[in-house]
Amino acid sequence: MRSAYSTSLQFFGPHTPASLAQRFGSPVYVYNETLLRQRAREMAGIIQHPGFRASYSTKANANPTLLRIIREEGLKVDAMSPGELALVQAAGFTKQDICYVCNNVDAAELALAAKEASYVSVDSLSQVAAFGKAVPGGRIMVRLNPGVGAGHHAKVVTAGKNTKFGVSAEELPELVALLRQHNLTLVGLNQHVGSLFLEGQAYLAAAEWLLHTAEQFPTLEVIDFGGGFGIPYNKYENTPRLDLATLGAALTAMVSNWAEKTGYAGQFFTEPGRYVVAESGILLGTVHAVKNSHGKRYVGTDLGFSILARPMMYDAFHDLEVYTPAGEARPELTQQVVGNICETGDVLAKDRMLPELREGDTIGVLDAGAYGITMSSNYNQRLRPAEVLITQTGEAKLIRHRDTLEDILRPYQIA
Ligand code: LLP
Repeated sequence: MRSAYSTSLQFFGPHTPASLAQRFGSPVYVYNETLLRQRAREMAGIIQHPGFRASYSTKANANPTLLRIIREEGLKVDAMSPGELALVQAAGFTKQDICYVCNNVDAAELALAAKEASYVSVDSLSQVAAFGKAVPGGRIMVRLNPGVGAGHHAKVVTAGKNTKFGVSAEELPELVALLRQHNLTLVGLNQHVGSLFLEGQAYLAAAEWLLHTAEQFPTLEVIDFGGGFGIPYNKYENTPRLDLATLGAALTAMVSNWAEKTGYAGQFFTEPGRYVVAESGILLGTVHAVKNSHGKRYVGTDLGFSILARPMMYDAFHDLEVYTPAGEARPELTQQVVGNICETGDVLAKDRMLPELREGDTIGVLDAGAYGITMSSNYNQRLRPAEVLITQTGEAKLIRHRDTLEDILRPYQIA
């Protein structure tokens, strides 16, 4: 048994993980409403300034029930595709709440975004010109590349020299000319340096750079510092948390002083995704096969990378819990926890010391609420799992049905 973390949070309410997996089907994403509300509130209040708003980044988790909870906690929202737009609208977000932060989209999408969102951010001169044609005389926000990036893996560093994102400082004169040419008003600047920082210095330095750059643009209504707030994924090693109080106080002081100095009376945004939802999700799965091969113990589960892509895509670490049938103790062994996808890279946990896993065991993947279900796929034509919410009163509510074979067949036109 290895469940101290979820037990300490009473994560599953009155339910056992095995009963949830049985009732809703394995694998299943389970979310805890109380924890989600707590993390959302922490982000909603990170900067104490009248013009501040936290804009939740929908890409982390787009389930409308969770989005509604996040909205109730006072966050606004970022969307970046028509699909995300439809889901945030289904959750009750209105035009004033929505900031559309897109990249490399067509004219129809730019026009849709301008109609449905209060702010639209584009991230290249080419897209500024496209926006000018699609929405003549419109209001536009531009994503800048502050020149330095950060992130937990090269694939999620979104600023600096090796990224497709943003307009760089050297391009600003050309940006100004383009805005004039298309009669566009620059109403916002945003940036996002990368995903998952646990220390605030780089975020603060980038924020300072953005404020300094903003001084050239008197028409701004929004200055948006981006997301990236990290969570510790090693729950059983007590990795320190991001010190939000210190970071928030530094940001508050920075924006207040700057607003006072410049007379800016507009808004400041952040764009947190992971921090809000990651910890409120645990992915449950089942062990179906165990074997020893060339000196290694392979534990075969239904948690392939079609269900959770992060370990495969970024070598990301997620802590695992083991819920043995009668809660009995088991010897600790080094094990390879793998999925059911036909690829050798389908590894959830490599050389992991865990209680000896056996067929029929239920396991839990911690911190799976962000970039879990949203990055899942039907690869190998497997069904994406159900999502279940443990409400504040302990009820287990189905909030997304598990794919059916009809869902798999629906898009096809068999010619
Ligand atoms: N704003 C923009 C413009 C973004 O591109 C992102 C994330 C966010 C905000 C939110 O970042 P967060 O606060 O969640 O770090 N799939 C990767 C993360 C990719 C992040 C992409 N952009 C992962 O699973 O680690």
